[in-house]
Amino acid sequence: MLLLLRVLMLSLLSGGSARVVQNFESECGPFFANGRSPTRFPGLQYRQICQMQNNVDYYATFYDTDNKIPVYSAYKFEGIMHCKRQASWYIEPQIDDNNGGPNMASKGSVDIQVRGNRQALNRDYYRSGYHRGHLAPVYLANSQSCAYATFTLTNAAPQADNFNSVLWWNVEKLMAQHLERKCHLQPVYIVTGVVPGTNNINNRVNIPSHFWTAYCCLDNNNRCSDSQGAIGINDNNSNIEYMSVADLEEELEYLYGRTFQLFH
Ligand SMILES: *[C@@H]1O[C@H](CO)[C@@H](O)[C@H](O)[C@H]1NC(C)=O
Repeated sequence: MLLLLRVLMLSLLSGGSARVVQNFESECGPFFANGRSPTRFPGLQYRQICQMQNNVDYYATFYDTDNKIPVYSAYKFEGIMHCKRQASWYIEPQIDDNNGGPNMASKGSVDIQVRGNRQALNRDYYRSGYHRGHLAPVYLANSQSCAYATFTLTNAAPQADNFNSVLWWNVEKLMAQHLERKCHLQPVYIVTGVVPGTNNINNRVNIPSHFWTAYCCLDNNNRCSDSQGAIGINDNNSNIEYMSVADLEEELEYLYGRTFQLFH
């Protein structure tokens, strides 16, 4: 009982101090077109994360602690930077522990009693047959530090090998090449997400049925002058479908079972 009270007190006292934030749009606004986030689902399992490393925010993630995968990550594209990858992956300390630090960190940053209660860990992916598929990807990162900051498990979901390494990689590459040519001097906003599926890895982490992505190049009137979406089934032999943002929103409305808006 005393412990319960203490936990309750701590969670009340620490509210709002962190990169798991209460107000997504005011705290992580720079990563959203016109400062407005894509649709957020109601429900206590969701967290709004400004993805911070070394006290800098690099992108934003809307995270589902029940399925232990993100719903989406939102980020800005500023050209192909040819960034390097890294081997290790971080977690988000504040998802498991309200008193955790604001920066993404190694799993050791969270007490073993609560570690992984509400998020995926490397061991969930180990020998699962699935890759840790990036939502905000290395290839579209706008700096090397941003690329390193994509290596956090709250920005990843189980992705079929070939879908990750060949099919989805191709989507990222084509999108980056198009954006470099067509939206060179415009602010470019991208959102990449997943739809939860019906199976899990390690009995803990949902395997998404689909990965999707969309971009918006803002013009001087804050409208998307160029935009497109893509979606594919999370399978080794998938077909990627390219479509307008409006059509992708309609597809996501069907898959999520509720209206879904990507850009405002
Ligand atoms: C994809 O193919 C790889 C290699 O052939 C296999 O190990 C893996 O289980 C397959 N994944 C799915 C989801 O079918």
